[in-house]
Amino acid sequence: MNDLAGKHIVLGMTGGIACYKAADLCRALVKAGATVQVVMTEAATQFITPVTMQALSNRPVYTSQWDQREANSMAHINLSRQAHAILIAPCSADFMAKLLHGRADDLLSLMCLARPMESVPLLLAPAMNREMWAHPATQRNVEQLRADGCTVLDVGSGEQACGETGDGRMLESHELLEDLIAFFQPKRLRGQHVLVTAGPTYEAIDPVRGITNLSSGKMGFAVARAAHEAGAQVTLVAGPVALATPRGVRRVDVKSAQEMLQASVESAPSASIFIAAAAVADWRPQQSAAQKIKKDGSGQPPELGFVENPDILATLAQSPRAASGALYCVGFAAESHDLLEHATAKRIKKRVPLLVGNIGPATFGQDDNALLLVDAAGAQELARNTKIALARQLIAEIATRVTIHTAPAP
Ligand code: C5P
Repeated sequence: MNDLAGKHIVLGMTGGIACYKAADLCRALVKAGATVQVVMTEAATQFITPVTMQALSNRPVYTSQWDQREANSMAHINLSRQAHAILIAPCSADFMAKLLHGRADDLLSLMCLARPMESVPLLLAPAMNREMWAHPATQRNVEQLRADGCTVLDVGSGEQACGETGDGRMLESHELLEDLIAFFQPKRLRGQHVLVTAGPTYEAIDPVRGITNLSSGKMGFAVARAAHEAGAQVTLVAGPVALATPRGVRRVDVKSAQEMLQASVESAPSASIFIAAAAVADWRPQQSAAQKIKKDGSGQPPELGFVENPDILATLAQSPRAASGALYCVGFAAESHDLLEHATAKRIKKRVPLLVGNIGPATFGQDDNALLLVDAAGAQELARNTKIALARQLIAEIATRVTIHTAPAP
């Protein structure tokens, strides 16, 4: 994926054992399409060599403000002017304290101070021992750095290189990559709370068997990720799927349609947008046996009666908040043929302003999809693309509609 295509990132590294993760991060940034300029403090070079970082970034590494390669001898100016962002990973406690005071006695701190604040954002990925992280001085510095316009990323929690366990380790490279990609996305849904359902539901027949469907949950998870990237608070109600939770998203795991309804209804009162991407089982067994149903030797299969599941989308779309425009509802329709006709009919039947159609068998389990957006104005195709690219387009479309929807009458 080329999520960082065209972006030039200065990857600043300070002294910390997490420098080994920065090597992997550098590779991930390049793989995502970015060009990466590595700048290391002297302490960082004690943990990993500039040669490694040069090979991974495919560019000479800078470590000193006295670098003779710059004709004007102003590496701090030249490097910072070209960047779309400076990411310090790992960012030590000492480096944060230094930034806070506007000190500039090495190339990296000098470059951070000299950066044009409006056009070159500074992101910090702290990395330190748990006591150092919890120290009031560090916490005070984090707060002040945020107030000064820095984006201080989260820290990870768990076992630390020192042998202790707690908060303060640097996020993993894939997490930092996700955070950086999100950082660059336009914040179209800032202030909104988006509720998403995703994945299949599982309807138990007995403790070991059940009925479900082929939904992988990938489209719904991509929608949740894209909503978070757009600045929304996101709750993801997920059926049984083997997918990682997108960063920054609150996930509620459920199994059955009834559980999905309950979790959705609980989150709906604070939501402003509801996107029903789950493939909810239409029916569930009338009874779920408490014990495994055994073959009785008669050759006769057990009789299974079914009852219809509640329609989660229709329930929320008919709520007073949806009727008043406080909750904007979006449905999905997985069809096998005549997409426009079915999606149009489904939008009216479910009474939602926007219905997103896709061809189910062509997308189940895949990483790409094609969407057809149907609203009162007509239909609009979103051409085949990765699910995350489509999810971002869908979120942009929803954002324009929500803005119009919730704008006060003239
Ligand atoms: O009726 P159909 O299942 O095709 O409708 C699809 C849309 O309705 C999807 O948005 C799906 O998440 C939602 N749905 C629901 N609860 C159901 C059935 C479908 O929320 N029981």
